[in-house]
Amino acid sequence: MRSWTTSDSSLPGGRCSPSGWGGRRCRWRRCCGCCISSALAAYGFKEGHILGGDVAGTVATAGDGVDSAWIGRRVRGFTGTGGGYAEPAAIPVQEIVPLPAGLSAVDAVTLGSSGVVAHFGLSRASFTSGETVLVRGAAGSIGITTVQLAARGGAAAVAVTTSSTERGRRLRTLGATHVLDRSGDGEDAPTGDDVIIDVAAGPDMPSFFDRLNPNGRMVVVGAVAGRPPADSGMRMMAEFHTSLSFSTFSAAGITVTDRRAVRTEQFAAATRGEIRTVVHEPLPLDRAAVAHRKMDTGEVFARIVLTPQSRTS
Ligand SMILES: NC(=O)c1ccc[n+]([C@@H]2O[C@H](COP(=O)([O-])OP(=O)(O)OC[C@H]3O[C@@H](n4cnc5c(N)ncnc54)[C@H](OP(=O)(O)O)[C@@H]3O)[C@@H](O)[C@H]2O)c1
Repeated sequence: MRSWTTSDSSLPGGRCSPSGWGGRRCRWRRCCGCCISSALAAYGFKEGHILGGDVAGTVATAGDGVDSAWIGRRVRGFTGTGGGYAEPAAIPVQEIVPLPAGLSAVDAVTLGSSGVVAHFGLSRASFTSGETVLVRGAAGSIGITTVQLAARGGAAAVAVTTSSTERGRRLRTLGATHVLDRSGDGEDAPTGDDVIIDVAAGPDMPSFFDRLNPNGRMVVVGAVAGRPPADSGMRMMAEFHTSLSFSTFSAAGITVTDRRAVRTEQFAAATRGEIRTVVHEPLPLDRAAVAHRKMDTGEVFARIVLTPQSRTS
């Protein structure tokens, strides 16, 4: 088995072996998504942990009690919080979704988690057609998919925050109508937002409360900028009479059945060209440390996908 553990770079964590290879699991080979180290550090992985959650490829073997008909099928799956940076990797069978013809393993890894977070994040915000949406931290895979789903869902406007003009241009091609800087300033900034989907959180988060229209909803789906100030809630409570609401969202709270249904629909939509998958670049698994350094320096638009055999389809 080839694998890459956290102790192979400066990432937090250390060395261990993949577990749970028996039972209702499949082993497979192909590719895995990569995310920033600060997000990984929040999990507090132990020494030697093998990273990697989003995996796609071809099922090689079926564990005890798993239908052998899965063997040879192209699928996307979720390992949990580790084991994906290995070839082969092991996945609980209930986390498998078949890939339609025309959707590559790289595309499936790019869309597999971000699509679910984007879909249910907008749902948690009770987003409806005709409303205005702001996506904060839109240049990552979650933000990019959220922008597309909001536009596809009939948003009256889709504003995004980003640190660069070029990223803003790319986000416009994906459905953004207004491009703002990270603080929310921009020449054509909307005066108010009905929904804010926040991938960033961090110290600036409370200032975005002020952008919400009456009855506006902010849903925090990520924290790439770190934790918000401890007294963040006070700013929103000061505007209590305008009926603002705030919540966090984690896909872990969504049932496997509902996640599978959304992924299946989104994979089909991607093959029809209705959702675009955006990959910064595929890199071989043995360059995982390079991939993480690129993520951590902020140069990545969308996502890097690791390919154990340097194959991308
Ligand atoms: N809710 C869930 O179920 C779920 C599931 C998976 C992951 N997550 C979380 O989602 C986050 C990762 O999402 P992702 O991969 O889409 O994001 P990402 O690619 O890591 O970052 C998204 C964008 O945020 C912007 N950004 C970075 N630092 C910022 C800062 N200090 N202030 C404002 N903007 C900043 C950057 O764009 P610009 O440079 O263009 O501004 C970056 O491209 C993590 O926090 C992870 O824990 C949540």
